[in-house]
Amino acid sequence: MIRKLDEKEFAVILEIVNDAANAYKGHIPADRWKQPYMPPQELQEEIRTGVQFYGLTENNNVVAVMGIQPVSKEVTLIRHAYVLSNQQRKGHGEKLLRYLFDLADTPTVLVGTWKAAFWAVNFYAKNGFVEVSEEEKNRLLHKYWNIPERQVETSTVLKMQKQPKKKTLVLQVDAQNPDPEKIKVAAEILKKGGLAAFPTETVYGLGANAFNGRAVTDLFAAKNRPLDNPPILHINQVNQVSQLAKEVPKNAEELMQKFWPGPLTLVFKRKDSVPKETVAGLDTVAIRMPKHNVALELIKQSGTPIAAPSANLSGKPSPTDAKHVFADLNGRIDVILDAGSTNIGVESTVLDLSVDPPVLLRPGGTPFEEIKKILPNVKLHPFVDAQKELSLEQARSPGMKHKHYAPNAEVILVEGDASAVITKIKELVKRYQREGKRVAVLATDETQKEYTSDLVVSMGTRFNLETIAKNLFRELREFDSRKVDVILAESVPLEGLGLAVMNRLRKASGYHIIKA
Ligand code: TXA
Ligand code: MG
Repeated sequence: MIRKLDEKEFAVILEIVNDAANAYKGHIPADRWKQPYMPPQELQEEIRTGVQFYGLTENNNVVAVMGIQPVSKEVTLIRHAYVLSNQQRKGHGEKLLRYLFDLADTPTVLVGTWKAAFWAVNFYAKNGFVEVSEEEKNRLLHKYWNIPERQVETSTVLKMQKQPKKKTLVLQVDAQNPDPEKIKVAAEILKKGGLAAFPTETVYGLGANAFNGRAVTDLFAAKNRPLDNPPILHINQVNQVSQLAKEVPKNAEELMQKFWPGPLTLVFKRKDSVPKETVAGLDTVAIRMPKHNVALELIKQSGTPIAAPSANLSGKPSPTDAKHVFADLNGRIDVILDAGSTNIGVESTVLDLSVDPPVLLRPGGTPFEEIKKILPNVKLHPFVDAQKELSLEQARSPGMKHKHYAPNAEVILVEGDASAVITKIKELVKRYQREGKRVAVLATDETQKEYTSDLVVSMGTRFNLETIAKNLFRELREFDSRKVDVILAESVPLEGLGLAVMNRLRKASGYHIIKA
């Protein structure tokens, strides 16, 4: 499993860095390995200047660590690459490197400051890095790094170009009666292990053949998605559940009958035949049957369940239009089936039936109230209506712990009764404008006239939470081109689709919530 390490995990990073440095002590100057190779202050500084550390775990222990730093449009720097010394030969370094390399948007450069010690040259050469010319080395070192002059002499700079981009084909299809020939193009791509984006009734999905582990790994890379967050498997016939799930509890039957096809994802114990890449190592699997003719026809023609997370770059709002998919993934995937905007606008509800009582893990297009009518004992996972960040140990659905839906501007959610919210937002608009910030308000049709901020955007009418759900992600996305510093968002009631809307708004705000 590969995941980003945070500042709290200092001790782990230090242990591995120091351990790996010791292992190479014959090759690096004695003054370096005799003391801690990287003292805590130095690590603090690295993190402060934007180095992001990633770790690869085995049996829950971190065994390899690498740090990357996007320094400019020209290069991404791999700052550190360390493998726990007793794990040297297990290929962990390579696996982590490949993952990080996919994350980088620019050519990736590695600087080694002791030529003789540059054990990594072999390793990196094997992974497609080449040494740059003396001239380029000097240019890069002087432009980007404060390496002392005496070390410039002994440095090695390795660089790997990004692979040529894929050509992404966009095919317009009719949402109701899609042309089977066009769907066939995408189905053939999926059969060959490629990636195809397609509309569902909720949001666009990015699909790969669920039984092809390699294709699913490519899918994660295309989205920059953390490897521990599995996709939903999409089917077009109820009997496909038995290809994927080991046990289907009795209470599932009625739900499938009533809500499929539709925006409800069910989590079951999985079959061993589902590749581990597809379920991110979990022993459960999430399945849904989408209510969209393009999606259903694509699954049918592909002849396989399709693993499909939302078709956005990880962290961005889910795409409700093919234009959003194109903006995030052009050049990274093979084809986009464009059938215009999606209907529901928030993702499916995720319901865990592998436990008793069943637990709703993500609120979405199927309201909690509707599920409760069939499963009176269903529980809401605390994350669903959390108003603050809960600890990771409490996360049951991997998606709960990753950053989501965030526009570039700071989002602040103001919660309370409508009239109190308006008063509070007006006050906040003034305060932020006094600080010289450009302020937007994410309001509703009924309240938008109240504000005099730099920008006011309506999510729709308060009397129809379905419209608000439908518009939400588009509005969040469009803020990125609207040059504002702060977005003050109104809360909506927690009933019906409001629960999903509020869950997404709270996440988009990073739980920056102000009570009115
Ligand atoms: O509406 C939707 O559900 C869209 C469309 C494309 O179908 N898909 C979607 O997928 O939103 P994604 O990958 O963005 O979100 C899937 C969610 C994540 O929160 C993930 O953690 C959770 O489902 N999930 C997947 N497998 C799981 C499992 N075995 N147990 C618990 N949660 C799981
Ligand atoms: Mg998603």
